Amino acid sequence: MAISTIEELFEHELKDMYGAETSLLAALDQMADESSDRDIKKSFQQHRKETQGQLKRLERVFKAIGEKPEAETCPGIEGLIKEKKTFMRERPSDELLEFYNIGAAQKVERYEITAYENLIDMADKLGLRDVVELLEQNLQEEEAALNKLKAIASEFDAAEEEETTSSRGR
Ligand SMILES: [Fe+2]
Repeated sequence: MAISTIEELFEHELKDMYGAETSLLAALDQMADESSDRDIKKSFQQHRKETQGQLKRLERVFKAIGEKPEAETCPGIEGLIKEKKTFMRERPSDELLEFYNIGAAQKVERYEITAYENLIDMADKLGLRDVVELLEQNLQEEEAALNKLKAIASEFDAAEEEETTSSRGR
């Protein structure tokens, strides 16, 4: 069926985001596994937990518009995940992979932030006040996650990472 109204577009984009957040659970797990730095590992694990909460909110949004939660494959996020997999072929060192992941996660957050902003704008046009509020909460979490990643990236010291790793006897 062709999409011709904002209401239909909203539903399409919502399914897309539900698919994106679902795919990100596994990606965040993997990035936590690939982190040797305890704080970095913890922040990926924490954002995974937040992502589960975001999925729950999206389920409430589906309910609010009288639809069942349904995931659509999100080619945007799948592309970012694929980009990371392609990078693995370059056989990065553990330290560089960790640093790369912090950058890759920021790309994901930027994508999600724009997707949520678009959804909020549409929900607002449709007069769906409760939905706007739920989506705003997800948006705020993504913005906070992006800021945290930016701080981690600027503090990241590859030389120091190297030392920590070798002192563990690797
Ligand atoms: Fe998210």
